[in-house]
Amino acid sequence: MAEHNNIYYTEGLSLPETPPPGEEPGFWKQTRMVGKRIPRVDAYERVSGTAVYPSDITLPNMIYGAVLRCPHPHANLIKLDVSLAKKMPGVRAVITGQTPAARNLTWKYNNYSGPLFDTRCRFEGEAVAAVAADTHFQAWDAVRAIDAAYEVLPFVADHNKALSEEAPDIHDNGNLAGRDEYARGDVAKGFDAAEVVLENTYETQCELHTPMELHGCVATWDKDRLTLWESSQGVYAVQSEIAEVLGMPLSKVRVIGHYMGGGFGSKLKPGKYTVLAALLARQTGRPVKLILTREETYLCVGNRPANTMQVKAGVKKDGTLTAWDFACIGPSGAYPAGGTALVDWQFRDLYACDNVRCTSEDVYINAGPARPFRAPGHPQASFALEQMMDDLAHEIGMDPVALRLKNIPEISQGRNRPYTTTGLKACIEKGAQQFGWEKAVQQARAHNQTDSRIKRGVGMGSCVWFVGGGGPPSTVIIKLFRDGSVNLNMGASDIGTGTKTVMALVAAEELGVRPGVIQIEYADTETTQYATPSGGSKTVPTESPTVRNAAIAVKRQILEMASQDLEVPAADLDYGGVEIISRKDKNKRIKVTDVSRLKKRGVVVGIGYRGPNPSDKSVNPFAAQFCELEVNTKTGEMQILRFLSANDSGRVLDRLTYDNQVFGGIVMGIGFGMTEFRQLDARNTGRLCNRNWHDYKLPTALDVPVDMESLPIEIDDPKANNTGTKGLGEPVTIPTAAAIANALFMATGIRFTRAPVTPIEMRRHLTAIKEG
Ligand code: MOS
Repeated sequence: MAEHNNIYYTEGLSLPETPPPGEEPGFWKQTRMVGKRIPRVDAYERVSGTAVYPSDITLPNMIYGAVLRCPHPHANLIKLDVSLAKKMPGVRAVITGQTPAARNLTWKYNNYSGPLFDTRCRFEGEAVAAVAADTHFQAWDAVRAIDAAYEVLPFVADHNKALSEEAPDIHDNGNLAGRDEYARGDVAKGFDAAEVVLENTYETQCELHTPMELHGCVATWDKDRLTLWESSQGVYAVQSEIAEVLGMPLSKVRVIGHYMGGGFGSKLKPGKYTVLAALLARQTGRPVKLILTREETYLCVGNRPANTMQVKAGVKKDGTLTAWDFACIGPSGAYPAGGTALVDWQFRDLYACDNVRCTSEDVYINAGPARPFRAPGHPQASFALEQMMDDLAHEIGMDPVALRLKNIPEISQGRNRPYTTTGLKACIEKGAQQFGWEKAVQQARAHNQTDSRIKRGVGMGSCVWFVGGGGPPSTVIIKLFRDGSVNLNMGASDIGTGTKTVMALVAAEELGVRPGVIQIEYADTETTQYATPSGGSKTVPTESPTVRNAAIAVKRQILEMASQDLEVPAADLDYGGVEIISRKDKNKRIKVTDVSRLKKRGVVVGIGYRGPNPSDKSVNPFAAQFCELEVNTKTGEMQILRFLSANDSGRVLDRLTYDNQVFGGIVMGIGFGMTEFRQLDARNTGRLCNRNWHDYKLPTALDVPVDMESLPIEIDDPKANNTGTKGLGEPVTIPTAAAIANALFMATGIRFTRAPVTPIEMRRHLTAIKEG
């Protein structure tokens, strides 16, 4: 057996107290592991390239799938002849809407359900047929050999035109996918009470999901049982959808998703490709790998939809907000996918205001369906709200930081109940202080008085994220072996954020073992516990309290066992990692590995569950971000000099993964604010123009500041859950684009109401000013 010092990170130090059965653990006071910079437990696999992602899976006899997709934004399929394709070299199967196994299957988009293969194609990229062949290239050759003909229909690609008379109906009931309304107080009265009323319209462009790992899976059958390796954010979500589509018992669908290369919301559910891979595998009796190309993912796996937002705001000269009136329209794409869902939350909840009205209209257009995209809806609304706040501050001659501090809400007005804790004020105040806001504003103003063509600006924005984890369900099992080593079993996926490392850290904190000794079994529907998908910034606040409870369940059992050896009541024993020690008589102690019943049983199993969040409170993370940048007013080039993000996400578990999230969120926000947009050929063909990494501009190293700072604002939040965590992944990207736009306003005097602000857009505005 391994030496103790290979297993434990500390000896002699007492660990967190073990609450007696039935009692909740108290809030951690001092911690030894939590809050430190702990490298990833799987760092070696990630860096060495030995980590196996679904796209790396190779099975004996495996063949390759490819999909024929409709090249038009709107068309009826009028001819589909696959006879030549079937005869192509290496081809093992071709499936279409006429294939018996596929004919009666349905596919769902939220509340919509339609045939798996629909002859009415409503977006470019709609699946028309699928092929499996011995090699990837043979599969694609066969796709090209399929003879398909279409009756091309009129299309609409612009959400602002989707409800007009000229727009063709995409669905039988027209192009209105949904409408949301919210109101509190009396908006008209609010505007009467205002001393300044401003109105503006903001537009954000459609952003495409670009995870490094493409979407797809490997599917294989063993008699009536399907196994899928899917690049996914949640294996149980894939299991349930695929079982439903194929009419199979859940027990017969196994989904494994160990490593995955990013999802950002577009991998919360399986895709049609998952079903197609399963069908091709069943038809051929061979494992099938179906990984989409980048072009395909840009067409069909999701996007952050464009939004057009009208904002009217009322404020008193002392900075009191009196009314918000917000109206938004945005597209779901060709099917209901929530194109405007949650867009209004920042307006409802972030700043204190008694009179708020929000209307959101979701419409269909002939383009790929939207999907959740890191804080769905929120960066769009933040781009509008935070720029309006900046304008209001400007108009009443108040500092933007001061205006926000003037309007910190006491409770969650969106939910009409108190927050467990709110760090909004602290994020703004401490963020501004750390950033050196006042000095930076003065210096930028002074610099802009000179005749340099380089102008400088600073800007900020803040945000609330609308949830903070939750449960049930959340179940975790921890096994402690007789040598003291530990196995942690949970269903949650690690979507690249460091979930495994963070959970190992929590177990290590309670049990005293080194995180690296903890073997983690995860994200496999056959061998691990049920978990909801990793999304909504909820994995840490949902799963970490459960991990803690599972570790405590182990400790309680071992204390009971040791109590027999030591003849001391369990309540008088301390769990010290290596040893169990009597609190009353320090001489009475026994090594965990010497506990008789553990030696006999070989292993102790602890099960952890998580209760619900408090029902009378709202658990929310908050953030404030600060940006300093320069604009070359001759060329339109922009350079972000520095960025600071102050985040109240509750307790920091691993400072290293925490900071990584913050930096990643800022980078993604820079893409949304400055470089990324889907370009459809809206006038002529309706097709996607930028479908690769050359034409679709992701921010690169040169677009990102070297000077990025993460400032955690830790406020004890024992009411949220037993680890005091609230979630970080999404709030880190919500106000980024707005902070940039506000800095650009200070630098140039131009209010950029359209995102992204590319150098071309900047030049256009600068030229317009020059030409008067
Ligand atoms: Mo996130 S958009 O909930 O993956």
